[in-house]
Amino acid sequence: MNILILGSGGREHTFAWKIAQSSKCEKLFVAPGNSGTAEVATNVNISVTDFPAIKKLVIENHINMVVVGPEDPLVQGVHDFFLNDEALKAISVIGPQMKAAELEGSKEFAKEFLFRHNIPTAAYESFTKETVENGYVFLETLNPPYVLKADGLAAGKGVVILNDLDDAKAELKSMLVDAKFGQASTKVVIEEFLDGIELSCFVLTDGEHYKILPTAKDYKRIGEGDTGLNTGGMGAVSPVPFATNEFLNKIEERIVKPTIAGFKKDNLPYVGFVFIGLIKVGNDPKVIEYNVRMGDPETEVVLPRLKNDFVEILQAMASGTLDKINIEIEERAATTIMTVSGGYPEAYEKGKIITGVDAITDSIPFHAGAQIKDGNIVTSGGRVMAITSYGNTYQEAIKKSYQSIEKLHFDKIYYRKDIGFDL
Ligand code: AMP
Ligand code: GLY
Repeated sequence: MNILILGSGGREHTFAWKIAQSSKCEKLFVAPGNSGTAEVATNVNISVTDFPAIKKLVIENHINMVVVGPEDPLVQGVHDFFLNDEALKAISVIGPQMKAAELEGSKEFAKEFLFRHNIPTAAYESFTKETVENGYVFLETLNPPYVLKADGLAAGKGVVILNDLDDAKAELKSMLVDAKFGQASTKVVIEEFLDGIELSCFVLTDGEHYKILPTAKDYKRIGEGDTGLNTGGMGAVSPVPFATNEFLNKIEERIVKPTIAGFKKDNLPYVGFVFIGLIKVGNDPKVIEYNVRMGDPETEVVLPRLKNDFVEILQAMASGTLDKINIEIEERAATTIMTVSGGYPEAYEKGKIITGVDAITDSIPFHAGAQIKDGNIVTSGGRVMAITSYGNTYQEAIKKSYQSIEKLHFDKIYYRKDIGFDL
């Protein structure tokens, strides 16, 4: 079959790398893709939200399946667009329909879903410009730190955690009254702060059945020791050492099962990946957020540990036969270290020539913000390349990734040297 992947990051390179290994895939396209996807697929320079252009590409190339990487096209209804078009409706789309994508598109929608289905999560209330005064009063009833979340998509920047009550009130005003995050902060969710260590759980579903992929932990802050600004993710480890079988069981029983059952009860059409952001409070998992896609850079450690033919799994998701699939997981650990452009997540320069990629033999370099220009691989984003390695232990895998990074060069390269420090 012919497959199209939408997206251009490390997650999409990993999808392409894994799909290209399947004998079931004839032609593989990535839109828009990067220098890594170009090695295993045909890149087509169209935006992930340009649905008419995607339609043309799909029809011209007899594409049978579309795998959606990022959340934007899902929240904007790419799956619905296919279902509502006579020429496209028979094509499989991996990713939830718009109504279900609201689980990531709206924090309030996600909190209501969690409470409706008795899934453990932080207590919350939500506020608008009209009820900002009530928001101040609610903040006064909470203990610090204060967690404020813009309801809509805010490019990963919409969550603000503050220690001081006056700062929290000022932030609430800035979000609601001064529209700090534009449309995204017309509503704000204020949450109880949960204290614990975070991990991510990835679930595949065909809407009826589910399969759980390996857990992973990512490192979101730019600085060592989890300090400084939030990023898209600076590294990841799978499996998560503290996620014992007993803990995984709790996640499945208390969170995964009611989540999948909730999709059905609420009529949320869901064929795709469910990324459940969790926090371990004491010995219990609580949900921090849902994402309706795979994580990045978690994908760069989760998919390399999947032994199955990925296309077979995707087909089973599309055809409602996921129960027939037996997920096989690599015993070894996988880790990834993200190399980024100096200055990221604030301003940084692009177009720096990347050398040494071919010299990396003990790790897999997954390209993220990297493109081919005039025959060179050059940086084109903040997160540039994720260096993934296997190891008998996560420590061994991390060591390998750091050794491989020694071979990689571009001006102002930065990466965290302490991935895994807290495990
Ligand atoms: P989110 O975008 O919802 O994943 O939030 C971003 C980050 O904020 C999470 O990865 C957590 O580190 C933190 N966070 C969100 N909600 C809470 C909470 N209720 N308690 C503690 N930390 C939180
Ligand atoms: N690494 C976190 C995310 O993909 O949202």
